[in-house]
Amino acid sequence: MQITVSVPGKVTLLGEHAVVYGRPALVSAINRRIYIKAESRSDSSIKVLSPDLKLQGLSLKINGGLSDFELEAGERKTQILEPLRYILKAIEVTSGHYGKKSGANIIVQSEMPIGAGLGTSAAISVGTVAAYSVLLGYDIDLNDIARMGHATEVAVQGLASPMDTAITTYGGTLYIKPEGTKPLMERIDMPCNFASVLGYTQREETTSQILKKVKAAKDRNPQVIDLIMDAIGLLVEEARACIKKGDMKSFGSLMNINHGLLDSLGVSTKALNDMVYASRSAGALGSKMTGAGGGGCILALCPDRVREVSLAIRLAGGMPFEVSLSSPGLRIEESSHGH
Ligand code: MEV
Repeated sequence: MQITVSVPGKVTLLGEHAVVYGRPALVSAINRRIYIKAESRSDSSIKVLSPDLKLQGLSLKINGGLSDFELEAGERKTQILEPLRYILKAIEVTSGHYGKKSGANIIVQSEMPIGAGLGTSAAISVGTVAAYSVLLGYDIDLNDIARMGHATEVAVQGLASPMDTAITTYGGTLYIKPEGTKPLMERIDMPCNFASVLGYTQREETTSQILKKVKAAKDRNPQVIDLIMDAIGLLVEEARACIKKGDMKSFGSLMNINHGLLDSLGVSTKALNDMVYASRSAGALGSKMTGAGGGGCILALCPDRVREVSLAIRLAGGMPFEVSLSSPGLRIEESSHGH
C-alpha cells in the first residue's frame, strides 16, 4: 500500500505569538506545498527519506513500545533533525490514537524552504498523520487529523497554538481564536487583490527556542507582555473587518503596527527588519515578519508593486518570492494498494 498526500504552507497575516496565548489570528494557506508519501514495509521499521531535508537514509526501529520512537541520533545538527522530530512524533501520536502501528517508508518533498516560518513543521506533522492514518487503514477525518497534528506540535515544541495545523489541514484563509481544546474558526473570503511577496532570510533560531524566549519575556514582565498581546488581538479584529470591506490600505497599516509589536516581543531580527523597511520604501501597503521569527520570512502586501518590492527585498539581502493566498488544504494526491 502506498499513499501520497499534500499540504500547503501558510503565512500568518496577523497575530502570531499572541495566538499561543489565546488571542485571535488571521492566517492563510499559500500555493507552496509539501508532499508526503507513506509506503508499507514488510518489516516494522520507520524509514524517513527526503533529499530536501537532507534526511536520506535515517531510520529507526519500532519493534518495541511506542516510546521506542525516541530519536537515537542524539543532538546531531538540530536544524537538520528538527523536521525528523515532527515526523516521528506524528507517527507516535497517530499510532497512539488508533492503538495500531506498522512499518513505513516516509518520503518528504517540499516546494518551500523548511523551518522558514511558513508553517512547514505543522505541514509535515499534519501530512505525516494523514498519510500514516491511511496506511493503517483509516479514512481521513479532517478534524481528527488537525487535532493529532496539533498534539504533535505541542509534544515536540512544548508550546503551540492550533493555528498552523488548522490552516494546513483546512486551507483557505481563517480567522482563528484558540478556545479550550476546540479553536473557534471562521473561513474568510478574500474578495480583494491580496498580491503579496515573501522575503526569506536564513533562520537563526528554531520555533521551539523562540517560543521559549517569548514565554520567558512574559514571565519577566507579565503585565506589559499581556498588553502587547491584547493589542495584537485588537489589530486582528480590525484587520478582519478591513478584509470584509476590501480596505487593503488600512489592512497594510495594521500589518505595520503588528510588526512593531512583534519586534518589541524580541522575535524579529535585523535581517527581517531590513526587508520589512525596504519593502515599505518600495511601495508596499504594509509589511511584517511572519511566523515565529528569529529569521525566516517577511510578508509584504503590495498589489501594484510586486516587481519593485521583490527587487527591494533582494537588495536588502533577502530572497523574494511571490505567493498567492487561500490555497486548498490537505488533499490526497495518489493512493494504491500494490504489494
Ligand atoms: C508559528 O508559525 C506561529 C506561532 O504563533 C506559534 C504557534 O502559533 O504555534 C509563533
